[in-house]
Amino acid sequence: MEISTTEIEIEFLKKDQIDLIKPVNRFIFNEERIINTTSHSDLIVLRACIKDITIGFKVGYGKRNGIFYSAKGGVLPNYRRMGLAKKMLDEMMDASRLLGYTDFQYDTFPNMNKGMLIMGLNNGFSVIEAKYNAQYKDFQITLSKKMG
Ligand SMILES: CC(C)(COP(=O)(O)OP(=O)(O)OC[C@H]1O[C@@H](n2cnc3c(N)ncnc32)[C@H](O)[C@@H]1OP(=O)(O)O)[C@@H](O)C(=O)NCCC(=O)NCCS
Repeated sequence: MEISTTEIEIEFLKKDQIDLIKPVNRFIFNEERIINTTSHSDLIVLRACIKDITIGFKVGYGKRNGIFYSAKGGVLPNYRRMGLAKKMLDEMMDASRLLGYTDFQYDTFPNMNKGMLIMGLNNGFSVIEAKYNAQYKDFQITLSKKMG
């Protein structure tokens, strides 16, 4: 099916609208939990949608020392490699920079899905930590980028 990217919108959701991303979270990550708590500082929830249908999301929040952390995100398989994750990354970085954050970070598990590692490295992120995560049976790579 040919999908026109002009039909796709990226929206900022309010905390009480977070349920709108639940079905996509469940489909991609096979869990009900989106993130452990929504009471973080400066929570940002992005939703990619076509009309009312959610096709992707990204959730992040502020940490200490000027760090904004992207906690989770995904795009439904039929809509991948259309630039949506990159668009949501850019939107979240712009919004967090405006809130005064200086560094943008996320963790990724490259053997489970290599996309976010490749995207980060291609877009000025550096690896600042790597450790084995026994729960996910994969390496957990932390990527970081300074926001100018
Ligand atoms: C990772 C994920 C969010 C990427 O979403 P996406 O909308 O397809 O990504 P984009 O189209 O914005 O990709 C931008 C760039 O990232 C890189 N990239 C993304 N997915 C890739 C893949 N599977 N393999 C290699 N490179 C990839 C490419 O450089 C791509 O640019 P290109 O298409 O011009 O080559 C999506 O594959 C997904 O939901 N995966 C399952 C959940 C997941 O792993 N989430 C991330 C946890 S950290």
